[in-house]
Amino acid sequence: MLTRLEIDSELYLSVLDQNDAPALALYLNEKEIHDRTLQIPFPYSEADAHWFISHCEQLQQEHGHVINWAIRLKTGELIGGIGFHCKNMGSPIAHRDEVGYWVAKPYWNKGIMSRVLPLVCAYGRDVRGLRRIEAPIYAWNIGSEKVLLKSGFRQEGYLCKSYFKNNTFHDAKLFALIY
Ligand SMILES: CC(C)(COP(=O)(O)OP(=O)(O)OC[C@H]1O[C@@H](n2cnc3c(N)ncnc32)[C@H](O)[C@@H]1OP(=O)(O)O)[C@@H](O)C(=O)NCCC(=O)NCCS
Repeated sequence: MLTRLEIDSELYLSVLDQNDAPALALYLNEKEIHDRTLQIPFPYSEADAHWFISHCEQLQQEHGHVINWAIRLKTGELIGGIGFHCKNMGSPIAHRDEVGYWVAKPYWNKGIMSRVLPLVCAYGRDVRGLRRIEAPIYAWNIGSEKVLLKSGFRQEGYLCKSYFKNNTFHDAKLFALIY
């Protein structure tokens, strides 16, 4: 099983392990990340991190390949995460999946996700046979929109009141990358 992907001289991706729990708890206990994503709890504890890491290990075993990657500096320090939601495995729509990602706030705007996302999508295509990768985002998430457009995604739809979070309805934009 492929468990490490080189991005460039500064970054690589590898599997999560239980030693990553403190870094996950440090960086994901961040309201601005919680507000922009769907499934990341806030506050975020080390117990949440251990649960998520075990969940990733289980998915890996089940499917025989890595589903969720840690984004790391060459020192090994975890500074983000990216993965697929595995919604359609084993079904007639197994060729499509959703991608989700985050970067630790101190590392925003350094071009990290713009370098990581294209490689992870190519991995999804080559290893899993994905032909359609979807990314529904909050319509106001400009940073995410820019990363998607730079990575070859195109907007396919505008979904009014698609999400209800923090007591508010949010419109969404649906982006997709087609292979
Ligand atoms: C969205 C996110 C992953 C972007 O990662 P990043 O590594 O900071 O992105 P990059 O540095 O590659 O930025 C790509 C482009 O977006 C721009 N950008 C990034 N964040 C931005 C923001 N908040 N507002 C406006 N533009 C932004 C960058 O300036 C860059 O533009 P350029 O190519 O014209 O220079 C990061 O902000 C994040 O983790 N956000 C919280 C979680 C999240 O939103 N996840 C996605 C859920 S759908």
